[in-house]
Amino acid sequence: VDTSAALRPLSGRRVLVTSGPTHEPIDPVRYLANRSSGRQGHAIAAAFARAGAHVTLVSGPVTIPAPEGVDLVAVETAREMLAAVEAALPVDIAVLAAAVADWRTAEEAERKLKKTQTGAPALTLVENPDILATLSRHEMRPRLVVGFAAETNDVVAHARAKLQRKGCDFILANDVSPATGIMGGTENAVQLIGPASHEEWPRMSKEAVAERLVAQLGSELATKM
Ligand code: CTP
Ligand code: CA
Repeated sequence: VDTSAALRPLSGRRVLVTSGPTHEPIDPVRYLANRSSGRQGHAIAAAFARAGAHVTLVSGPVTIPAPEGVDLVAVETAREMLAAVEAALPVDIAVLAAAVADWRTAEEAERKLKKTQTGAPALTLVENPDILATLSRHEMRPRLVVGFAAETNDVVAHARAKLQRKGCDFILANDVSPATGIMGGTENAVQLIGPASHEEWPRMSKEAVAERLVAQLGSELATKM
């Protein structure tokens, strides 16, 4: 008996996952970044690979290893991440879990900035491209586009607003206030929010969140065909 379809429900599917932070250089030795271990994004890429999908993992700088069986594209900046995401298309499903830096400096100094008598340098910031919004409105838009929202307050309201603004199909929202201990930890407590749905998942390991998300997106994709 051929059990491969049951064991590997996403076999033949192409999936894109972003993970980790981006680093936006200020000068050759300094950068701006968000906090991100890459654990949740990498766990999602691993779960998709176990389900049989062809997975491209576009990751910013992280210390954890790439999961087995995924194609890793290592990037530094948001602009590099956007280029790598577009290069991975077409895909059936995209999950953008990266903590993209919202801003970069208007100019990157070619030489290390030095301390002076006249005080700290003023950094002029410009906004980075929004990868999730770009992908959601792309001419090669994946059938399912999922974003993340890391919030410290009013989690559901912010997530619903983001779903609208970005044009994606689902937002996986989590509360990252320091008291939850989620940031940088091994567990996550998330809510999966769609245009007309809202599920609150119990606190579980980031691997378990990944398994459940992949199972749900797999059946979502099957009903969308
Ligand atoms: N995201 C992205 N490109 C950006 C910023 C964010 O693709 N330049 C994606 C993230 O990967 C995530 C989702 O958008 O999936 C939400 O990120 P978040 O930082 O919560 O949203 P922002 O629109 O940047 O809003 P905020 O002001 O709350 O940071
Ligand atoms: Ca942001």
